[in-house]
Amino acid sequence: MVITMPRGTQDILPEESKKWQYIEEKLRKISDSFCYEEIRTPMFESTELFSRGVGDTTDIVQKEMYTFMDKGNRSITLRPEGTAGTVRSYIENKLFAKTIQPQKLYYVGPMFRYERKQKGRYRQFVQYGVEVIGEESPKIDAEVISLAYNIYKSFGIENIKVSINSLGNPEERQAYNEALVKHFEPRINEFCEDCNNRLYKNPMRILDCKVDAEHELIKNAPKLLEYLGEESKQYFAEVLRHLDALGVKYEVDHNLVRGLDYYTHTAFEIMIDNPEVELKTLCGGGRYNGLIKLLDGPEDKKGIGFALSIERLLLALESENIELPIDDTIDAFVVAMGEKAGDAGVKLTNDLRLAGYKVQSDYFDKKMKAQMKLADRYNAKFSIIIGDSELENGQYVVKDMKTYDQENVEFDNIVKYLEEKLKGEK
Ligand code: HAM
Repeated sequence: MVITMPRGTQDILPEESKKWQYIEEKLRKISDSFCYEEIRTPMFESTELFSRGVGDTTDIVQKEMYTFMDKGNRSITLRPEGTAGTVRSYIENKLFAKTIQPQKLYYVGPMFRYERKQKGRYRQFVQYGVEVIGEESPKIDAEVISLAYNIYKSFGIENIKVSINSLGNPEERQAYNEALVKHFEPRINEFCEDCNNRLYKNPMRILDCKVDAEHELIKNAPKLLEYLGEESKQYFAEVLRHLDALGVKYEVDHNLVRGLDYYTHTAFEIMIDNPEVELKTLCGGGRYNGLIKLLDGPEDKKGIGFALSIERLLLALESENIELPIDDTIDAFVVAMGEKAGDAGVKLTNDLRLAGYKVQSDYFDKKMKAQMKLADRYNAKFSIIIGDSELENGQYVVKDMKTYDQENVEFDNIVKYLEEKLKGEK
């Protein structure tokens, strides 16, 4: 029987991987403009990093981790997200001692979650994420959110919505959680099993329940905003003010709680704003002021970040009918006829490749017509023809595959000629 790929994974075949390369390159460029530097952390970490960092009561830790014992009897987990590993690395490598603070980091790489497969939800998916760790300022929160927002805009994705909330500091959240327990406890039997489990461990997650979203108790639940102190409210107002200044359109959503435990203060998500698309969340993030200390780093260091998956970015592009400008041409196809010219063709192909051009030729001594057909299939911009007479007078015939114009080009001038013709395209 043919072996198939594991459920929830996908092969990205060449045509598709061109899109991925385009997207990744663009993400790196934008990160660079915003002065974020790349960090690469391992794809697996000690399980404890996630149970402590992401939180024991979260769906990720309870249901979705790929965890196994390695041969040295250590519990290892394939990373389900990038924040915990980045913060671990920040602490372990003492990035807090660097002269530039906060550290502005980004990553692109596969994450693993054992989730139910559906459109836009995979068991292996690629996240691009950023983390700003060190000092705290509302300007940083606004920069991070505007970076996420502008990533979608830069791809031409217009129908998006930023939802934003403040989760306050840990004490405020605690008071709020207590109010929620009081609110839901008397009628918790009307809720799903997950909500029942969450009631005492993580009541805020009930607000986020997909099953019971329409329940009146969710709709009229106490609002977190009412539990925020003056300082938290002030901080949030400042973040919103900076977002206004940066031209980011957002909606304050007091029910936005996010699925990971480490968030404090600013939390946000970016959604597709199109009723026909079922899976809406493209990107999520927020501030995590307690996480550095929780992972035994310096107490005064704070962080904020977000992550998006490339799979869902592609979905958003699809939902807006946006074609990426993928270049599927090659610079030249070398057409050679006859044994001697065939050898010269192999050498020319190699020389042009080493000079940086994208060049292909035929491997099987095909007839001229078949080679020209191949040049077309490869979408060659030029074909360079060598036969016996060309060898004799030291000139190639170069044909522009769009206009069919032909020119004779001296052997020694071919690189220069291509350089001239392809100027502005590279
Ligand atoms: P998250 O909300 O769990 O947050 O995931 C962020 C994004 O990853 C989601 O909005 C979605 O685009 C994508 N994503 C998550 N699961 C899947 C999946 N199974 N298949 C495809 N895409 C998926 C985090 O991971 C946090 N670490 C974000 C963060 C960074 N917060 C602060 N810094």
